[in-house]
Amino acid sequence: MRIEVHPSAEAATERLAELIASALDAAPRLVLGLPTGRTVVPVYARLRELHAAGRADFSEATTFNLDEFVGLAPGAPGSYRHFMDETLFAHVNLAPERIHVLDGSAGDLEAECRRYEEAIERAGRISLLVLGLGANGHVGFNEPGLGLVAPTHRVRLCPESRRANAALFGGDADRVPREALSMGMTAILRARAIALLATGREKARAVARLIDGGITTRLPASLLQVHGDTLVLLDEAASGQVSDGRRAGN
Ligand code: GLP
Repeated sequence: MRIEVHPSAEAATERLAELIASALDAAPRLVLGLPTGRTVVPVYARLRELHAAGRADFSEATTFNLDEFVGLAPGAPGSYRHFMDETLFAHVNLAPERIHVLDGSAGDLEAECRRYEEAIERAGRISLLVLGLGANGHVGFNEPGLGLVAPTHRVRLCPESRRANAALFGGDADRVPREALSMGMTAILRARAIALLATGREKARAVARLIDGGITTRLPASLLQVHGDTLVLLDEAASGQVSDGRRAGN
């Protein structure tokens, strides 16, 4: 993993937006994996600006989101599809048929997960996967535990994750669905390149375990250590507990 510590969240955000825009320049038919969450809101805002200024052309790109809540119709308030529509999709020139978000209201959720995996493979796998980081170390909704489920799957959310998503449901964690569908670690690790963004002090502990700790299902993001092309973008606050040697990029 390559690690970059930026002086501010704004600088880390700018770097990631530029990285995505440059990847689109280099390969217009890019297959992008996308996260939700507060951390990436300014990244999507910057991509909208770049797009309005004539850069970040998504016309030939394909996207696959990482996860979605179970029981919400696509685009319903609180759903990740709704979040994506509002923060990015409605503002850029992505072709609707090339936008993919898991359908948490599908009648057969297991079949929906299989369909999603097949669609990723058919698209030629994800070329650039953007990741956020849960304060508990999750990526997508691969929650910490004794084991991880490799394929795209249905998952029961940790109370911590439901609390972290309360803002999407009027601040009420009880209204956050108890289950979600998530891209599994196999599809994540099969992405050709990964860029993980973590900002703010509340991520510092998970970041330190990701960078200085061993590989463990107790911190799903630690599996990224085996991936050959992962860039970890941090601000000062998120890097606060990382060992000095690793902060310096050693
Ligand atoms: C959410 C999502 C993740 C996201 C993470 C961080 O619950 N399932 O895909 O990366 O948690 O969210 P935030 O950026 O709001 O801290």
